Amino acid sequence: MEVRNFFFILLSYFVLLLPLCYSAKPSLDSKVALLNQASSQNLGVVELDSNLYDEFVAKPRNYSMAILLTALDPQINCIPCKEFDPEFRLVARSWLEAGNEPSRLYFGVLDFKNGREVYAKLGLNNAPTLFYFSPTTGPYAKDVSEPYKYEFNRHGFSAEQFASYLSGILGIQVPVKRPLNYFGIFITTILILGAIASLKLMYPMMESVIRSKNTWAAISLVVILMMISGHMWNHIRGPPYVYYHNSQL
Ligand SMILES: *[C@@H]1O[C@H](CO)[C@@H](O)[C@H](O)[C@H]1NC(C)=O
Repeated sequence: MEVRNFFFILLSYFVLLLPLCYSAKPSLDSKVALLNQASSQNLGVVELDSNLYDEFVAKPRNYSMAILLTALDPQINCIPCKEFDPEFRLVARSWLEAGNEPSRLYFGVLDFKNGREVYAKLGLNNAPTLFYFSPTTGPYAKDVSEPYKYEFNRHGFSAEQFASYLSGILGIQVPVKRPLNYFGIFITTILILGAIASLKLMYPMMESVIRSKNTWAAISLVVILMMISGHMWNHIRGPPYVYYHNSQL
C-alpha cells in the first residue's frame, strides 16, 4: 500500500512537471510573437539581454535575424559603436516602415552591459560585432549552421552599405529611408549664397585675370600635358606600380 502511494505521488509529479518543461523552451510561435511585439514597439529594434539572445538565436528559427553586439557605455568609449548605432537603427526602422512580412527579418541589439555572458561565451573582445542568423526552418530556410559575420572594414559603416549587404543575402530589397536633414540643407544654402555673393564682389578684381589670353593658354597647356602624358589613363585605370609577368618584373 505504502509503495503504491509513493509511485502514485511520483507519477503525478511527472504529469504536473511535463508542461513546465515545455514552457521553459519557448516555441517558435511564441518567439515570433515576442519578436513582432518588441520590434513594432521599439522602431524595429529588439533590445536583448543574454537570456533573450540565447532564446532568439536558438533553433528552430523561421526568421532571419541581424544582431548587433555593441558597447555604448561612455566608459568603454567605443567610437565605431557610437558611429554605427544610429545607422543600424535607421535600417531597422526603414524595414519596419516598409511593411514587409514581419517574420522575414528582425533586428536585435545586445549591449555589453546586458550581455556579458554572451560576450564571454563567444570569446568576443571587440565591438561592434554584427551577426546575421539565417532561418533554419520554413520557406526561407538555409542550410547554414553558423551565423554570418558582418565585416565592417569590407562592407562599411553606413546604413546604405549594411542594407545592401542584407539585400544581397535575403534576395529582396532592404530599404533605407533617411530622414531629411533640415539643418544640413540650411547650412548648404547659406554657404552657396555666400559663395555667389563673394564671387560677385571679387569679379572686378579678377576680371583682368579671367579675360587674359595667357591664363587660358596656361590652363589648356596643363590639361593637354596631363592627357598626353598618361596621367589620365593612370587615374582611370589605376594600374599597379610594379607588375610581374612570367616571373619577370
Ligand atoms: C514563422 O512562424 C510564425 C509562427 O508560426 C508564422 O506566423 C510566420 O508567418 C512564419 N514566418 C515565415 C517567414 O514563415
